[in-house]
Formats: sequence, structure tokens, C-alpha cells
Amino acid sequence: MSNANSRADRVPLPTSTSVHLESVTKEFKGHEAVSGVTLSASAGEVLAIIGPSGAGKSTLLRCINFLEIPTSGRIVIGDQSYDVTLNGPPRGNELVNLRRRVGMVFQSFNLFPHMTMLRNVALPQERVLKRKRADAEERSRDLLELMGLGDKSDQYPNRCSGGQQQRAAIARALALDPEVMLFDEPTSALDPELGAEVLTAMKRLADEGRTMVMVTHELHFADDIADFVAVMVSGRVVESGPPHDVLHSPQNERVARFIRATER
Ligand SMILES: Nc1ncnc2c1ncn2[C@@H]1O[C@H](COP(=O)(O)OP(=O)(O)OP(=O)(O)O)[C@@H](O)[C@H]1O
Ligand SMILES: [Mg+2]
Repeated sequence: MSNANSRADRVPLPTSTSVHLESVTKEFKGHEAVSGVTLSASAGEVLAIIGPSGAGKSTLLRCINFLEIPTSGRIVIGDQSYDVTLNGPPRGNELVNLRRRVGMVFQSFNLFPHMTMLRNVALPQERVLKRKRADAEERSRDLLELMGLGDKSDQYPNRCSGGQQQRAAIARALALDPEVMLFDEPTSALDPELGAEVLTAMKRLADEGRTMVMVTHELHFADDIADFVAVMVSGRVVESGPPHDVLHSPQNERVARFIRATER
């Protein structure tokens, strides 16, 4: 994807940070979508969350950057603890800061259609980090190249494939120098070939030592890059461990059934 001394090589290596979730619960109108989940990823590790539809995977992921406010529990990002049970959710600057440290990529890429790929990646840097336009655009070109989009900077999103748009969305998140990256099924809206390009880009980030928490239905991918896999069913983590154990010899019968059905 890049030659020596190319733009992509200029992207500074991340300061990765650990993530720890402790007894995180999220209720919607009396129904617990997430029930007392405790999970961790050390700095530079990849945590994959898998499980059937409606299990609470997206809700849990969104609790990490407080897009959903947990009903109770504690989220720890590096040395910063957000204890919702004790203190309520972070607000104001504390929340802005947390969102900067924890980047997120969604299933739908949500690029601005009236802006080029370059401007889509540069704008949040100018708004959030107050980077000068020239600096933000320089950085955006490096990141687009890192994502294999060196020739797409001046293109509008609707002229790009879904896989290219999703990689631009990843570049946009990376541009804020997050210490943790969250991914919610980033390939599920893409056909397999375009999804594969996105997975290649994500693998590169994992290899660079970025802390990643990803919800995925791509079990082979989780097997390949995750350090730890957690399986959620009905709001709870019912099985977790190294991918080799969880995916190849699950102990829980419900998990075994889910894995068989997904691989079919
Ligand atoms: N804003 C909301 N209001 C009420 N209920 C919600 C809300 N968001 C999610 N839920 C419910 O919480 C449960 C978990 O949903 P969630 O989207 O986290 O599941 P998921 O594991 O990500 O599923 P999928 O694999 O289909 O994406 C579901 O029963 C869902 O209907
Ligand atoms: Mg989901």
C-alpha cells in the first residue's frame, strides 16, 4: 500500500491506551440491553465483540464513548475513570475530551456528500483540534494514503465505492489522533470484495499497535487479528477468551450454535 518514505509512513504512530469496562449496564425503558458487562483491552490490543442480532453489542460499544449513557457501571480509558454509578456521565469539556480520545467508525460512513474526501477528513481536525487548514489537509493526505486512497483526495464521496468511503471514514476518525478506536460492523454494508479492502486497512491499524474494540460478524477476521474475543447473548458476555479457544472450541452451547450458523 505504501513505499518507503511515502506519505503513509509519515503518519505518527499512535499513543494507544487501555480500555476497561466494569459492570456496564444499559437499560432502555426497563429492558436491559446490556447487563453488567466487564471487559478489558490493554494498550495496543484488539478486542472483538461478536454475538447474535439484538445481543447488545452496538449498545455496549456506544457506551464506551458515551453515545449511550450507561445506566450504571464504570468506563476506564487509560488512567481516566468515568464512574457513572458514582458520578453520573461526563459532561462538557470532559465529554469532548473523551470523544477525542476514543474514535468511532460506524456501519454507515456518514461522509458529507458536498465535500471532497480530503475536506471530509480535514474538517473535524480544524473544528475539534483547531488545526490550520493547510496542516489539516496535509495530514489528511497522509491518512488517505495510509488507507490506500492517495488518488481519491479530490473526489466526492458519491464517486467512490462503499469500501473507499468507509476507509475515508476511518481516516477521518484517525485524524483526531484517538488513543482507542471503536468499530461497529464497519463492513456489513459492503459486498465482500469491498469489505475485504476495509479489513486490510483495519489489520494495518491493528499491526501498528492501535487499541481497537470492534463489533464484527467476520469471525475469520476476528480470529486473525483479535487478541481477545467476547461473545454477547441477551446483553451479557457468555463466553470470552483468546480467539482460538472461543471460536474453535466454545464451551457454551449457545455460542457454539451461533458460530456454526455464522460460518455456514
Ligand atoms: N435507543 C434504543 N431504545 C430502545 N431500545 C433500544 C435502543 N437501542 C437498542 N435498543 C434495544 O437494545 C437491544 C440491543 O440492541 P443492539 O443494537 O445493541 O444490538 P446488536 O447486538 O448491536 O444487534 P445487531 O447485531 O443487529 O446490530 C435490542 O433489543 C434493541 O432493540
Ligand atoms: Mg449492532
